[in-house]
Amino acid sequence: MARVKARMKVGVVISGRGSNLQALIEAARDPDYPAEIVLVVSNVPGAGGLARAEEAGIPTETLDHRGFAGRAPFEDALTRTLERAGVELVCLAGFMRIVTEGFIARWHDRLINIHPSLLPAFPGLDTHARALAAGVKLAGCTVHFVRAEVDHGPIIGQAAVPVLPGDTEETLAARVLAAEHRLFPFCLRLVAEGRVRVAGEVAEIEGLGPPDPPLINPAPR
Ligand code: GRF
Repeated sequence: MARVKARMKVGVVISGRGSNLQALIEAARDPDYPAEIVLVVSNVPGAGGLARAEEAGIPTETLDHRGFAGRAPFEDALTRTLERAGVELVCLAGFMRIVTEGFIARWHDRLINIHPSLLPAFPGLDTHARALAAGVKLAGCTVHFVRAEVDHGPIIGQAAVPVLPGDTEETLAARVLAAEHRLFPFCLRLVAEGRVRVAGEVAEIEGLGPPDPPLINPAPR
């Protein structure tokens, strides 16, 4: 049966290779997926993700932040670009600029980010090197609503992966990235279906099934 409900219009903002963007593109190919990507914006000219969007027939824009007189004018232009495309929700997918309060307020609870750690552990850069140095046994990724403090905000979902003996930054990053590609489309689905409500600074999710069994590392066997 044809889908009757309008799909949520999503803009994806990137700076790089766009593998998370690709995961969102793949998910949104399903006409039953509740969100459609109407625009991809990069602040880096020639970013790999732009080609992925073009390949999928999604409109793209490049807004090179270096061409603006500061963060505020850049973010104003970004907001105007997203609004022109009718964007209702913004996904930051490897966007490597800090966003300021004005932009966050404009898109309050309509701006989500993926971060490659189990927040609130390891906000900021070099998450995998820091996880290895700390000796954590589980690493992972987080999708959250964006707040003014970097890599903070109501958590929509998290995926955990084991840290294995002999892991390097690269092997751990690859394992986390594979989890990101599952987590981000799922979290976007939850938001687009209207199943996520922010109460206080906690995101509450409606209608979830029973959780998976615990991931224990080292595995007790
Ligand atoms: C991902 O690890 C994401 O969590 C972080 O930046 C990286 C982007 O990778 N915010 P890609 O451009 O999606 O491949």
